[in-house]
Amino acid sequence: MQTHEIRERFTNHFVRSGHEAVPSASLILDDPNLLFVNAGMVPFKPYFLGQETPPFANGTATSIQKCVRTLDIDEVGITTRHNTFFQMAGNFSFGQYFKEGAITHAWTLLTGSLAEGGLGLDPERLWVTVYLDDDEAAEIWEKKIGVPAERIQRLGMEDNYWHMGVPGPCGPCSEIYFDRGPAYGKEGGPAVDDNRYMEIWNLVFMEKERGEGTAKGEFEILGDLPKKNIDTGMGVERVACLLQGVENVYETDLLRPVIDTAEKLTGATYGKDNTADIRFRVIADHSRTGMMLILDGVTPGNEGRGYILRRLLRRIIRSARLLGATAETMQQFMNTIMDTMTPSYPEIAENRERILNVATNEEKAFLRTLESGTQLFEQAASSVKQSGSTTVAGDQAFALHDTYGFPIDLTLEMAAESGLEVDIEGFESLMAEQKARAKADNQAKKHGHADLSVYRQWVDEHPTEFLGYEALSSQSKVLGLVRNGESINEAHAGEEVEVILDHTPMYAESGGQLGDRGQLVSGDTLLNINDVQKIGKKLWIHKATVASGGLDLGSEVTVNVDGKWRHGARQAHTATHLIHAALRQVLGPTAVQAGSLNRPGYLRFDFNFTEGLSPAQMEQIELITNQAVDTDWAVNTIETSLEEARKMGAMALFGENYGDSVRVVEIGGPFSMELCGGTHVTHSSQIGPVTLLSEASVGSGVRRIEAYSGMDSFQFLSREAALASGLASSLKTPTVDLPERVRQLTDKLKAAEREIENLHKAQLAANTSKLLDQGVEINGFTVLTIQLPKGTSAGDLRTVATDLRGRLGEREGIVVLAAEDGQGKAPFIIGATKSAIARGVKSGDLVKLLGGYVDGRGGGKPDMAQGSGSKPEGFNAGFEALKSELAQL
Ligand code: ALA
Repeated sequence: MQTHEIRERFTNHFVRSGHEAVPSASLILDDPNLLFVNAGMVPFKPYFLGQETPPFANGTATSIQKCVRTLDIDEVGITTRHNTFFQMAGNFSFGQYFKEGAITHAWTLLTGSLAEGGLGLDPERLWVTVYLDDDEAAEIWEKKIGVPAERIQRLGMEDNYWHMGVPGPCGPCSEIYFDRGPAYGKEGGPAVDDNRYMEIWNLVFMEKERGEGTAKGEFEILGDLPKKNIDTGMGVERVACLLQGVENVYETDLLRPVIDTAEKLTGATYGKDNTADIRFRVIADHSRTGMMLILDGVTPGNEGRGYILRRLLRRIIRSARLLGATAETMQQFMNTIMDTMTPSYPEIAENRERILNVATNEEKAFLRTLESGTQLFEQAASSVKQSGSTTVAGDQAFALHDTYGFPIDLTLEMAAESGLEVDIEGFESLMAEQKARAKADNQAKKHGHADLSVYRQWVDEHPTEFLGYEALSSQSKVLGLVRNGESINEAHAGEEVEVILDHTPMYAESGGQLGDRGQLVSGDTLLNINDVQKIGKKLWIHKATVASGGLDLGSEVTVNVDGKWRHGARQAHTATHLIHAALRQVLGPTAVQAGSLNRPGYLRFDFNFTEGLSPAQMEQIELITNQAVDTDWAVNTIETSLEEARKMGAMALFGENYGDSVRVVEIGGPFSMELCGGTHVTHSSQIGPVTLLSEASVGSGVRRIEAYSGMDSFQFLSREAALASGLASSLKTPTVDLPERVRQLTDKLKAAEREIENLHKAQLAANTSKLLDQGVEINGFTVLTIQLPKGTSAGDLRTVATDLRGRLGEREGIVVLAAEDGQGKAPFIIGATKSAIARGVKSGDLVKLLGGYVDGRGGGKPDMAQGSGSKPEGFNAGFEALKSELAQL
């Protein structure tokens, strides 16, 4: 049975019993604790916690959620069942049915006949587990469903108590396993062997809330949830593996074609060698995860989500290379996986080109890394060999990995090819040190998160009401004061404090727009609000300094937004939308927003695009933007559902969730329509002029445009104009002729520089012939020891020395030149003619001798050697020492 059909049967089964089918949320949701959505229940968390009312008619829902888990990335391809991307099919009950309902629904789908819409699994091969003391679930399985008692096992916290790894809803669970038969492992059920008995479905009886603690499971239970809920997750890829009779999750209909593509591109064969097979499976698994992450807006980078994507893509390339690929492979892998996934995710079709661009660019960049890494490796290898060793040092391997991104297994492989070993212990201990550092960093960051618990009381009970779309001022009540992560009752003059209000006109930083600045006043009390941040989507934190008076919890205050600030922020934010629209007109729909920042007068806009923009494209984007300003379009905001907004054609990026009510900002009808919670001008002409400043790369496949808006734009242009007219008047030419005038001047300057250089050379040559007269005869040698004028460079010394040595011809001549270069150094050089060398003169040795007198060092060959010192006053003594050395030779 095809995977797409399994999905369909699942959804139909639950829709038939009244569940509302909810589309998968993006892999990226606005949750600081989660890098990626990793379970079907994530989008529903507020409903479980009772923070929001589920919008589903029967209080039940079903979904097939895209999930990414990369914790087990090293297991991929080695076990039979670890996918970094997988689809979790789930059914959810918010205070409706509980254990019996969940168990019955799951059982009837799994064992129901194909004709009735079931999946047709043999009930005799299913085992179940329940939590230690969950007699209720055990009894339902045995009495109601008829699973024999010996196939019901009880397991502890680690296996049968589910939580998100972070604070949130949790509860005991019951898991369903399929016995794959004796060929796959030991008898004795899932408690004994979780390879032979493959877990396919987890039913969570969500009834508690967990607090802070460890991801592993030491945490405090805060109490009961308002209602008893159900959250389940069936692993679609695992069920597909069983129903398709394949060995593992990498050989199902969705991933096997990637393995086939890899065979074609690498010349290797799947199924012959275990190490190679693991590489094939890594390619299949990671191609899909990479593709799905790019689809949801992730681009490769060096941290967070971007880093994970980069790592996945690089592992694909590396695996393909190790299998024998010599050319680029990414495009074919991406095309194959997009073909297999599109029936379930039709949105892939519109994003094909963008996905290909992002993935193949990363491949190009990585191949360059590999190439330079290969060179560096070869250098390291040859110096190892020269030193007579056979081991590449651990720190060399680590530098290749850490600084140049060159993977260790390639280093190992290349070392083996050139008959060398790698000090892998040394390498690993450096890696461990680095990991420990990263962990310490992470803990520091987590601590920041842990501090969020202080805000919890208000997040749950007093979310802030935002009035700032209409009002710039409000009468508000102080609900909370926080200082240094602690809740306090009063704040005094001079202190920094965070203020939580019942409602506020102040915009909190989000969607790229910085938080408002403003003031909070009450009688003689004045607080300057320097920033406003949001906790989750709901709580506004006003970061303020108490300028005078004091503030008590419960006070009634007046809050005023700084109108000038807000005006500037609105201009910049609306300008960003116009630039985004103009950009897509000029560059096409593959230029997708990747991030932005707006503050009064200035904005920057990051977007996915693989090439630099030409000056002509920049000009055109600027023109279209300013024309849109000039047209004076009305800027309309529309509150609607996410689904409605999509239908209208609004550009949604990520972070929005099904069922969310969203805000669409529309300018000029189809010209610009975006989901956005920001504050905007009401008519486009209020933005004033927009000036693009620059365009540059900020990472692989991401470009950044910077611009000024409003008065800042005017001031920038006026400064530029003043600069140009200043230049024009000092160059005595009209501004329009400036470029030509500057070109003439630089040409002239270059010609003059060439002439000076030639004169200088001529002068050196003329002087050189005179210098020859200063030679003295010592022991049959003609010896020249000359200190040239101050300011003579080391390069000039060499020119003159070479010339003099030439002029000495057949004579046994030695030329010693020294100077002060005028920059604190005292360079010197010694040259010897062939016949002098024949008598045993070595310039290198003489340079060392001279160096000793001027606090210098140097070296070279017998015919010419050079050095540099710092005590020119020692030259004369040095010259005498040289002469007596030569006298004795
Ligand atoms: N939330 C449960 C899981 O992820 C179903 O296993």
